[in-house]
Amino acid sequence: MIVELQNNDDKYISSLEKLFSNVFLEGDIEKEINNNPYLKIYMYLNEDDILGFIEIYQIYDRIEIANFNVLESYQNQHIGSKLLEYIINNAIDNQMKNITLEVRSDNEKAIYLYKKYRFENVSIRKNYYGKVDGILMKKDIIKEKDIYILGIESSCDETSFSIVKNGVEEIGTVTSSQINIHKLYGGVVPEIASRAHIKNITFVLEECLEKTKMTMDDITAIAVTYGPGLIGSLLVGVECAKTLSFLYNKPLIPVHHISGHIYANNLVKRLEFPLIALVISGGHTELILMEKDYSFKKLGGTLDDAVGECYDKVGRVIGVEYPGGPVIDKLASIGKPSYNLPIPLNDDSYNFSFSGLKSAVINLVHNEEQRGNEINKENLACSFQNVVIESLTTKTMKALKEYNINNLILAGGVSANMGIRDSFKKLCEKNNINYTFPSVKYSTDNAAMIASSGYYAYLDNRISDLTLNPVSSIELK
Ligand code: KG4
Ligand code: ZN
Repeated sequence: MIVELQNNDDKYISSLEKLFSNVFLEGDIEKEINNNPYLKIYMYLNEDDILGFIEIYQIYDRIEIANFNVLESYQNQHIGSKLLEYIINNAIDNQMKNITLEVRSDNEKAIYLYKKYRFENVSIRKNYYGKVDGILMKKDIIKEKDIYILGIESSCDETSFSIVKNGVEEIGTVTSSQINIHKLYGGVVPEIASRAHIKNITFVLEECLEKTKMTMDDITAIAVTYGPGLIGSLLVGVECAKTLSFLYNKPLIPVHHISGHIYANNLVKRLEFPLIALVISGGHTELILMEKDYSFKKLGGTLDDAVGECYDKVGRVIGVEYPGGPVIDKLASIGKPSYNLPIPLNDDSYNFSFSGLKSAVINLVHNEEQRGNEINKENLACSFQNVVIESLTTKTMKALKEYNINNLILAGGVSANMGIRDSFKKLCEKNNINYTFPSVKYSTDNAAMIASSGYYAYLDNRISDLTLNPVSSIELK
């Protein structure tokens, strides 16, 4: 039985001091326990006999093991394991961040026990005990318990809420799309978008909680897209997240929209590092190198238009509904590459350019119209998409080779494109590169990707206070 020592337990205090005189001097325990509210001692009792004990400092959300001992004649009977498990379980129940300790480097038995319970070496104190080193060890508790992140996305024209467990398991997502409203105008109208977010946001939250059968009490933290995006739209999501954080006393985690798109892949398969992410969306075209979670190095990006923007503008010129991307994808699959278009920025850099390609398509359409020729939409879509694919695959495969990286992920709305997926699949298989694509429904904007990314931001302590403000344009860091 494990019992916490109380400061009036005179009998236990004096037996502890006698049994473990190598650790305590007479009067030590009483003095410490009365003077230090953070100190706790747990005893392993057999009937009334003390067989071992563990002494800890519990300071806010951290625990430090100060002393840990089992009587010599009772060792190897798992008493140490039981005491340690007791402390670990307490730490999990009380949402502690970590447990730290120091151990002599020659105390093999203790080190073996700590390693078994997944304590990791943090640093060495050279010659701390005369000629013997001290090893500092730490166990992260946060990773031991289930973490449920509520994600919120409202950066453009989707109002979305999602709950994701431990960064990888989607519990449920509800997304309300405004596409049908913006279709009437041939693109997203920012003022209309923010108004629609305001109208929908509480309903979408309610529906998400209903669908997942969860309450705000089950949520560990709230992750919200704070940028980049349309400022009015972002504001609605951020204000909602701040209100929930304040009301329910939950940590607030700001998430960069692009990191969300990247972590949409984490819901398919846990990211493997190092990796290169090709981010292709309505607002972004970037090659990003990641060595580990939440480390983003930009290798290059578009110098002008984003790929998705180019798709949508080409869509408008050939007369298809907004957003043009998915329609062009379908048309391309049945067309032939009969039109000649230039491959943009065919150089050694990792940068892209799509405004020249867009102008080339516009000019081609106008010229043909002036000549009285009818445009073959399927063939033009196919010719255009082939050039996009050529540009994206050349630069991406070059980056993988030059940085000697074996893992590729695609991210962003345009990664839903079947032609682009097929080409990367073939190239990766030929070159022995592991590849992951986000599920098609989570290629475009959604809150599941924000909740997944938010989990790793939470582990990285990227927590904000209530002064958080949205930003329309910000680099991924
Ligand atoms: O990621 P997303 O939802 O919003 C931004 O963060 O920008 O991406 C939207 C973009 C739009 O430009 C849309 O046309 C494009 O993704 N898109 C596609 C496809 N599905 C969506 N582009 C090409 N092929 C598709 N199948
Ligand atoms: Zn997006």
